[in-house]
Amino acid sequence: MAYRSLIFFAILTLLFAACDSSQRSGSSVKDRNLARADSVLALMTLDEKIGQMTLYTTDWGSTGPTIREGYEEDIRQGRCGATFNSHTVAFTRRLQEIAVNESRLGIPLIFGFDVIHGYKTIFPIPLAEACSWDLEAIELSAAIAAREAAAAGLHWTFAPMVDISREPRWGRVMEGAGEDPYLGSLIARARVRGFQGDGFDNADRLVACIKHFAGYGAPIAGRDYNTVDMSERTFRDLYLPPYLAGIDEGALTVMTSFNDLDGIPATANPWLLRKILRQENKFDGFVVTDYTSINEMVNHGYAADDQHAGELAVNAGVDMDMQGAIFQNHLKQLVEEGKVLEKTIDDAVRRILRVKFELGLFDDPFKFCNEEREKTNIFSEDHLKAARDVARKSVVLLKNDQNTLPLSAKTSVALIGPLAADRDNLIGPWSGSGDGQQCTSVLDAFKERAAQSGFILTHAKGCDVLGDDRSGFAEALRIGRQADVIVAVVGENRDLSGEAAARGDIGLPGIQEELVRQLVATGKPVVVVLMNGRPLTIPWMADHAAAIVEAWWLGTQAGPAIADILYGDYNPSGKLVMTFPRHVGQIPIFYNEKSTGRPYDPDSKWNSKYLDMPNAPQYPFGFGLSYTTFAYDAPAVDKRTFTLNDSVHISVKVTNTGSRAGEEIVQLYVRDLVGSVTRPVKELKGFEKIMLQPGQSKDVSFKLTAADLAFHTADMRFTAEPGKFWVMTGPNSRDLHSIEIELVD
Ligand code: BGC
Repeated sequence: MAYRSLIFFAILTLLFAACDSSQRSGSSVKDRNLARADSVLALMTLDEKIGQMTLYTTDWGSTGPTIREGYEEDIRQGRCGATFNSHTVAFTRRLQEIAVNESRLGIPLIFGFDVIHGYKTIFPIPLAEACSWDLEAIELSAAIAAREAAAAGLHWTFAPMVDISREPRWGRVMEGAGEDPYLGSLIARARVRGFQGDGFDNADRLVACIKHFAGYGAPIAGRDYNTVDMSERTFRDLYLPPYLAGIDEGALTVMTSFNDLDGIPATANPWLLRKILRQENKFDGFVVTDYTSINEMVNHGYAADDQHAGELAVNAGVDMDMQGAIFQNHLKQLVEEGKVLEKTIDDAVRRILRVKFELGLFDDPFKFCNEEREKTNIFSEDHLKAARDVARKSVVLLKNDQNTLPLSAKTSVALIGPLAADRDNLIGPWSGSGDGQQCTSVLDAFKERAAQSGFILTHAKGCDVLGDDRSGFAEALRIGRQADVIVAVVGENRDLSGEAAARGDIGLPGIQEELVRQLVATGKPVVVVLMNGRPLTIPWMADHAAAIVEAWWLGTQAGPAIADILYGDYNPSGKLVMTFPRHVGQIPIFYNEKSTGRPYDPDSKWNSKYLDMPNAPQYPFGFGLSYTTFAYDAPAVDKRTFTLNDSVHISVKVTNTGSRAGEEIVQLYVRDLVGSVTRPVKELKGFEKIMLQPGQSKDVSFKLTAADLAFHTADMRFTAEPGKFWVMTGPNSRDLHSIEIELVD
């Protein structure tokens, strides 16, 4: 019997023994898998253990997947336990065969990838999806992404990204769920449920990874990777909740962030990784670094050299090193020198092996490698239909003067702008294996409608997204003057948002606004359709465009979804999850601010305000219009006072006062009037999305308990404090009716 087979035999014997004894004691699947992991661990050399803690990228060339020199040999020698960016069944099968058939212990690889908003069928960018406030739709989008990616051989997604951000200059806001911790937590849960589902029995789900732990969304001045510094209270009340929600929902992995937090890089931060994650929140999955973030601790000035960085990271609680090769190069020596305990290594490897057992890879390493499924499960009709539906739900109508929208099927349209015919940008950043050329553009979708309804459609690009070439203006203006209505599709190229894509000026790039100004000057109504990955400053257009549709990057089905909205086949219902500033000078700007000792008063000087602009944003958090209108009655409560163990029921009557059926996201906010520390002027505590026919009313009810009012008090206890609260209901964070209640001891 060959040596390798002997090892296999030993593993199997131990596996069965472990399974059998844990089954007899009635332990959970997790315990059983930990026991099985231990049985493998017992056979491993220190080098092989370190190999399990090493994650390598593979690449994608013009001819398909490729692997860097030496990596296959590393897999064969047990020096690499996981790869990322490796996808397609053929490629993952090839690498898995090396791991399973040619390495000493035959431990299967785990394949990761950034499956952020779709694999091949691309859904709206996460920031857009969040604007649907539709948790079922968001879960479905993640489930479809997982289904397609798993069919291409993948096991693990580096998502959801749950970083709260109040920084629209930061390019990665496109990847998150906006500025609010309550909504962000619910969305984090929905995405984890979508990716992981009930587990991996059917090989159509992915292991989720909560990232970037922690505080990555608050870089000073909005520059990616920059320093993060905030009070522990702000961190715990505002930034931490979505990470914890995702972990509580069962996410099996967590990724560290690039930034430092209060001076300690997150990748070597025992307060984050050991205390908050493992001790306080019982996280039992594994922690992976972000890309070379261990190495970067030398640049941070926190580690003297690579070896020191590795020591700090592993001792702080990192289990897997993404691409840095620090563990591979230095961990053995660190153990030999006694700077890292072998027990620390064993704990990390046990957690990694457990996830491989959860995925079922020891039972069948090729479980996710099925060529047939790869053909049928990807880019299916069902998936495209779901992508169109989620896309429609993600659109936010920001302005609609005199019912410019929806367009009539008879009106002649001049479709203008650099993004009108564009396909490549529609998939946005972090678009998996998506191909922009497979998207339906706005022009494609309009052409189809024009062919059906017979209206006159003209098209001109006008200008590019970037640059200052005005040679296309004349044609754009000519067709604009001839049409009944102008639809201007403008915004960002997809590489203007995303990682390493901070912008200091978040206005419309290039000369696009100049084009829009000239189109408006024709006197024709101009509908602006925005495609972008972050809030933009658009004060001129907010005043002068007839209508503004925030369409973000909606993915494969962007064109049809936008046409559905513009022609009223779908009544827009999305609401902003990030505040839109008027001017970059207002940033950071967010709805849940504090009152200050000198609250804003436009008529006097000595208060908290700007001399040259108002404090108010262009569009507040929670804002979004519909083609119908809704009236809100004042909220009513079932009691004015309640105790710590009691709850209050709030109800608000909402009526559709327009002439179309429409959905409305009814929002509930709370203000704690006096606290042992100052409290935000409003905090989202509930919402419900309702459909109302014209003239129809509904009573929407919410329940508040003391737990919903908890925060980190002056002595850092997480509890509610007795006292008075305003409960506020309305269509957004600005236009609210309130009622006072009191929490008594
Ligand atoms: C990003 C992560 C991503 C990783 C792997 C990093 O640059 O910050 O979010 O998961 O690359 O692609």
